[in-house]
Amino acid sequence: MTRSSSRRVLLGVSGGIAAYKAPELVRRLRDAGCEVRVVLTAGAQSFVAPLALQAVSGHRVRRDLWDEEAEAGMGHIELARWADDILVAPATAHLIGRLAGGLADDLLTTLILASQARLWLAPAMNRIMWQHPAVQANLATLQARGGRVLGPASGSQACGETGPGRMLEPHELVAALSAAPALLSGQRILMTAGPTREPLDPVRYLGNRSSGRMAYALAAALRDRGAEVVVVSGPVDLPVPAGVRRFEVETASQMLEAVLDRLAGCSAFIGVAAVADYRPETASVDKIKKSGQAMNVRLIPNPDILATVAAHALRPGLVVGFAAETEAVEAAARSKLDAKNLDLIAANRVGSASGFGDVVSSLEVFSRDRRWSLGPAAKTVLADGLADLLAARIAQDAAGGTTT
Ligand code: C5P
Repeated sequence: MTRSSSRRVLLGVSGGIAAYKAPELVRRLRDAGCEVRVVLTAGAQSFVAPLALQAVSGHRVRRDLWDEEAEAGMGHIELARWADDILVAPATAHLIGRLAGGLADDLLTTLILASQARLWLAPAMNRIMWQHPAVQANLATLQARGGRVLGPASGSQACGETGPGRMLEPHELVAALSAAPALLSGQRILMTAGPTREPLDPVRYLGNRSSGRMAYALAAALRDRGAEVVVVSGPVDLPVPAGVRRFEVETASQMLEAVLDRLAGCSAFIGVAAVADYRPETASVDKIKKSGQAMNVRLIPNPDILATVAAHALRPGLVVGFAAETEAVEAAARSKLDAKNLDLIAANRVGSASGFGDVVSSLEVFSRDRRWSLGPAAKTVLADGLADLLAARIAQDAAGGTTT
């Protein structure tokens, strides 16, 4: 499938009275430059006609996971991959519950489970339902996984009551989706990501458990705020976020070289990679043979990429490190902040309940005189919080302001 430059929004409509606003929502999304495809749940079809949505979206409306003809056109997995954003509007209490439970019992829930697109939910329901702890708990679950909740508004409801639960108006939903906070526009940010691999011989290496998830989520969050993001990445099993430039490396020395080549003109450097502190002094040209005897491998220190950047003549205005610690997190993070001459350091505890590879984690961020706590939350949510913090600092530096 060739990629068009417009944003691709999959609109999921579930069965609430606010579904009657879906055709206007599609029209406004298209006016805002989005390509839109629509999926209706069974309940939604009682409130809005598929033909109306086909006419305004310009595409056949999907309703059924088992529609052979539609699957022959764009299969549901392809549709899940196609979307940049999935907007569920209206999102009923039932749909929110099914998503929180991880169900895939119709086309829309299956698509959402199979997609890495940003998920937006526009709840619409009676005010008592909205306030029910079950609904609130389900929404909190979805938010912790990175879902974004838009609304609801307060006002008169179709059921005759007044209170919170009205779906936001189509123009408000479109504004929320397209509000790409341009705080970082024009700023180039260089990051490192993932693990490094230090070869012992042609088939073996010293590595670590870094998944790259935090770095890639942060790259996407900074891109969403308008930055030009360049990631120098060790080997990870993750797709490159759209619009982010990635340069692949294996060893710490290659990572340092790739970073220094790209340092000029950057307003921030963020070292997220789990860089090996040591490498084998020599890598054998041939595969090391088993001898049955004990074996010594002499390790020598790797360059510290972060400290090198922080001491460099081309040092960006903001240099940020990460610290994965198993104990005394604050003391260790603060001593790295000083030793490496950083502006900020984001620390997390690893090795116990959360850390490497996990989807949920938490971060403590330290400057010389301040501290922020983020999470526990999904790494995508942490990345959003951290990106907001960094964006505020970079914008402040760009305006020549004082920093904390
Ligand atoms: O000293 P420590 O390895 O705990 O510091 C972690 C921070 O330093 C991370 O931001 C990591 O990306 C960076 N680092 C580096 N080069 C190294 C070791 C760590 O850039 N050789």
